[in-house]
Amino acid sequence: MSVKVLFVCLGNICRSPTAHGVFQALVQRESMGERITIDSAGTGDWHVGKAPDRRAQQAAAERGYDLSGLRARQVARPDFDHYDYVLAMDNSNLSDLKRLAPSHFKGHLGLFLDFARRSAAREVPDPYYGGDEGFAEVLDMVEDAAEGLLDDIRQRLV
Ligand code: 4NP
Repeated sequence: MSVKVLFVCLGNICRSPTAHGVFQALVQRESMGERITIDSAGTGDWHVGKAPDRRAQQAAAERGYDLSGLRARQVARPDFDHYDYVLAMDNSNLSDLKRLAPSHFKGHLGLFLDFARRSAAREVPDPYYGGDEGFAEVLDMVEDAAEGLLDDIRQRLV
């Protein structure tokens, strides 16, 4: 039995693939790969099948994360039967997910940054229409929250 985590943003080409790649790397580094399953998805369908945004891939690669193998998909109702944590990047994603979630969902549906310890922000800002610095800021927030999330999962597993 593994703990299953789904990261969700709007397009699944910037923020949630970044969270996916960063958390995957942390989980591998901590030898937790057998116990934690990770995926990401978007609430929208515009970019389905596409690799992450070139700027997101570049910013991640500068910190040693490889996002090149990820492909965008749209979140769907059956995801709630599969995942234990469904983590939204911003409040708009979260309200879309709350509308989609079946009433029997017993997992954790919330904001990813609720697990952050250094960042006071609760939402990961959408970097899509901004400059390269937005992608570095996303990585800072995501790295912070990834550590907090892993600690939360570890407490569940003991
Ligand atoms: P993401 O960023 O939600 O972090 O993947 C976006 C990507 C694409 C669009 C919006 C946000 N878009 O409007 O196409």
